[in-house]
Order: sequence, then C-alpha cells, then structure tokens
Amino acid sequence: MNSPRIELRQLTRKLPSGGRELTILDRVDLTFQAGEFAAVLGPSGSGKSTLLALMAGLDRPTAGEVLIDGMAIQSMSEDELALLRRHKIGFVFQSFQLLGNLTARENVLLPIELSGQPDPVGRANELLAAVGLDDRGHHYPSQLSGGEQQRVALARGFAARPPILLADEPTGNLDGATGRRILELMTELRRRAGTTLVLVTHDPAVAALADRRIHFRDGRVERDEQPVLAVPAETGALS
Ligand SMILES: Nc1ncnc2c1ncn2[C@@H]1O[C@H](COP(=O)(O)OP(=O)(O)OP(=O)(O)O)[C@@H](O)[C@H]1O
Ligand SMILES: [Mg+2]
Repeated sequence: MNSPRIELRQLTRKLPSGGRELTILDRVDLTFQAGEFAAVLGPSGSGKSTLLALMAGLDRPTAGEVLIDGMAIQSMSEDELALLRRHKIGFVFQSFQLLGNLTARENVLLPIELSGQPDPVGRANELLAAVGLDDRGHHYPSQLSGGEQQRVALARGFAARPPILLADEPTGNLDGATGRRILELMTELRRRAGTTLVLVTHDPAVAALADRRIHFRDGRVERDEQPVLAVPAETGALS
C-alpha cells in the first residue's frame, strides 16, 4: 500500500520571544492522502503559515516530524530539501515572494527550467494566460498590483507540475471572479494530475470546496472535518 503523501507527527515549533518561549505549533498530528484537497482555517496567528513552511521544509520543527511520501524530511540536507521542493512541492507564499529582479514570465519559468520540464517558455506562457496575465509577462513584480503578483505566484506554484501544492491564502488578494477562476484551475489540476492540495484560507467559500476542513487554534488542531462516507439510507427491510 502507498504511504500517505504527507504525514505530520507531533509536529512542534517553538520560538524564543523576549526571554520566554512561544509555542507556535503544538504537537500536531495530521495525515494527508495523495490527491486529497484540504483547507486549513483558523484565526490570525494560529500557526497556519508556520505549518505550511514546515511541510515544505522551509522551516525546521523544534520537535516531531514531517514525512513526505514516507520520507522524514528533517533528516535531509539542505540540498536534498531543495531537490524535494523542486520536484515534489509547489509553494504559494502568503506574501508572494516573487523575485523582484525577474519579470513575471521569468519568475514562472524558473521552476519549469529547474525541474527539467519540456518547452519551458511555452508552458510559462500557457500558465500566465491561465491566470489571466498573458499580456503582463514582461512586467516586474513592482509593476504589478497585489492581486496580479498573487496570480504570478500561483502560476509559479503550479509550474513544475508538483504532486503537492501548498498555498497560503492564494485568493486573499483577488476579486470574486478572479478568485473563482484560480480555484477552478487548482481543482482542475488536482483532477487531472492527482495533486495533493493543502490550502490556507480565511474564505468559507473556498474552504467549502475542499474535501476536508482543518481548523487551527493556538497552534493546535481544534477540529478536523473529514468527509463523511455515505451511509445507505435505513430502509427497514431487515426489520
Ligand atoms: N519568525 C518569527 N518570530 C517571532 N514570531 C513568529 C515568527 N514567525 C511566526 N511567529 C508567530 O507565530 C504565530 C503563528 O504565526 P503564523 O504566521 O503561522 O500564523 P497564521 O495562522 O499564518 O496567521 P495569519 O492568518 O495572520 O497569516 C504568530 O503569533 C506569529 O507572530
Ligand atoms: Mg499566515
């Protein structure tokens, strides 16, 4: 049997703060199956972005572990982690983190070239068109609005066809219609490629599209709404 795509075991992140220690994530146990679409919700400061960063190996836990396809990522070197991210994980940052000295197209091109996908320029153009920015590829991030930068960040996140896509508030800066288009793109990606999607969102409409809603509070899972399997209706035939 395949191992679950992402497994978090007793995942804990603490940070020193003015002589004290802040617990940002507190012994989180979660399992995401391949192809699952999960929404992570919770108040500001509840640890959602920290969780995503740990899942991508962008931050290291204080205790506990992250397993990706059965491999514990904390035992990997920085080089191994970079390879894991290049081939397995697409990441959309809450604050976009586009490279300011590269154009929108070059930002999207970079992960395509690094992952060795065919026809990088064609694919970058296709992705920019998919997020509605085909005419803005030559612009630098500073010449784009927040929502436009967010769409470039999304296109970059999809670019290398990652089996896992982690997206932090991917529709937070988009108007309703654009946000819906982006969500359709993500759900289509998942349908076509079996992508595992973990999305942080404050938007109940976005969360409603997911199979599963995980609510965080104070660094812990407060509630995990998993899909309920259909139970055959009581027919009374056996009575
Ligand atoms: N590098 C850091 N130094 C100090 N505190 C930090 C650091 N990173 C995160 N924190 C704290 O950890 C807590 C969780 O932060 P995190 O960014 O994960 O929250 P979040 O749930 O993503 O919030 P939001 O919805 O506002 O994005 C916050 O209280 C934050 O201030
Ligand atoms: Mg956050």
